[in-house]
Amino acid sequence: MGGMIRYPNSCLGSLLVLGLVLNVAVVSNAGKSTTFVRKVEKAVDMPLDSDVFRLPPGHNAPQQVHITQGDHVGKGVIVSWVTPISPGSSSVVYWTENSKHKYKAKGIVTKYKYYNYTSGYIHHCTIKNLEYNTKYNYKVGTGKYARTFWFVTPPEVGPDVPYTFGVIGDLGQTFDSNKTLTHYEMNPTKGKTLLFVGDLSYADNYPFHDNVRWDTWGRFVERSAAYQPWILTAGNHELDYVPEINETEPFKPYTHRYHVPYKASESTAPLWYSIKRASAYIIVLSSYSAYGKYTPQYEWLQNELPKVNRSETPWLIVLVHSPWYNSYNYHYMEGETMRVMYESWLVQYKVDVVFAGHVHAYERSERVSNIAYNITNGLCKPVKDLSAPVYITIGDGGNSEGLAANMTEPQPSYSAYREASFGHATFDIKNRTHAHYSWHRNQDGYAVQADSMWFHNRYWRPDDDSSDH
Ligand SMILES: [Fe+2]
Repeated sequence: MGGMIRYPNSCLGSLLVLGLVLNVAVVSNAGKSTTFVRKVEKAVDMPLDSDVFRLPPGHNAPQQVHITQGDHVGKGVIVSWVTPISPGSSSVVYWTENSKHKYKAKGIVTKYKYYNYTSGYIHHCTIKNLEYNTKYNYKVGTGKYARTFWFVTPPEVGPDVPYTFGVIGDLGQTFDSNKTLTHYEMNPTKGKTLLFVGDLSYADNYPFHDNVRWDTWGRFVERSAAYQPWILTAGNHELDYVPEINETEPFKPYTHRYHVPYKASESTAPLWYSIKRASAYIIVLSSYSAYGKYTPQYEWLQNELPKVNRSETPWLIVLVHSPWYNSYNYHYMEGETMRVMYESWLVQYKVDVVFAGHVHAYERSERVSNIAYNITNGLCKPVKDLSAPVYITIGDGGNSEGLAANMTEPQPSYSAYREASFGHATFDIKNRTHAHYSWHRNQDGYAVQADSMWFHNRYWRPDDDSSDH
């Protein structure tokens, strides 16, 4: 049953053959249709003794090392790691490539219990006032089992600064997850920072949300996340809310393990925040926190959007877990209430692109909005709107729940491209007017762009309909 099998378009849909589900993904674009046919098997988690989860050598050696931006402008980095047996030091020693002088930043240590699991010692250390565009080495732990990594700070915030982001969602820890991460690492368009649109470890799919799978996930992604910032969005698999076992604090494992610089953007919670990085302004929203009128997230976003200066950061990017435009038969309408609350703001402020996950497939929209409805006028269809963002669903990181292969038919006109394959994307900003976007499926060679488009900036090139090819 290996290899590609091609069926005519009349065979669209899912076929049950010999117990395997074969999916025929339909791709249509501006009247052009192609098919990409692929065997769908359930993605399987890598076993606990897998090499990608291996422990670093040495007693109490730091593990699960990961970094994210540590301030609002890119001169700070939060370094996080876990020591399994004893706290050890929470300090990070760091130095530039060419300097003999070493600096030290002091961090904090925390831990948590979840049902019958007790975490290791989780360290978070914010390094501030770094030089822009500079490679730093950094060391965590002490003594002979200390570990050294490196990162490169972004260029100073400015309108024409080229910068390349990767985009991954719903990663999990299957063999397919590993392929997705490898494809991202091997992509000749080198992502310098990863935009992660939620659903990290999928530990909650295990009995009692076995948090050991949070630890294995941390070790799995270290090979990327220790060297470049992962900008994190919370998904539903971060909730870990199980009142039956008295676990009623939403996001407990996630917020203990992953710190973000939310205070730097005057947010009051780590689940929604913003950063500037090079020529991009990135707003992270929470699908699973209150977003109705008068709520903290609503008030924050209302105050936040007018602060974005497109002469400084031309590219306005929004990350959210649950997509607002989704034409798959999965998580149908789940993003709708948030869309109703916030879509008009995103159009008003000319957001360039919204990346979402949640649906385990890929979809890219045309520039459309659906903001005219007022209860009585009946105007409730998406319409072409050059001020609207492109909506990209990229929940196809490869987690154990498998692909969302079932689509609504016919494909709605606002849906420019959709395909149920695992993959990742890159958003490659060239200057204030142009960014090249491409989506890469795991079945292809590392350089193959399965879907791509040139983004014309909504502020600087508002009249170019860049969602048309
Ligand atoms: Fe999700």
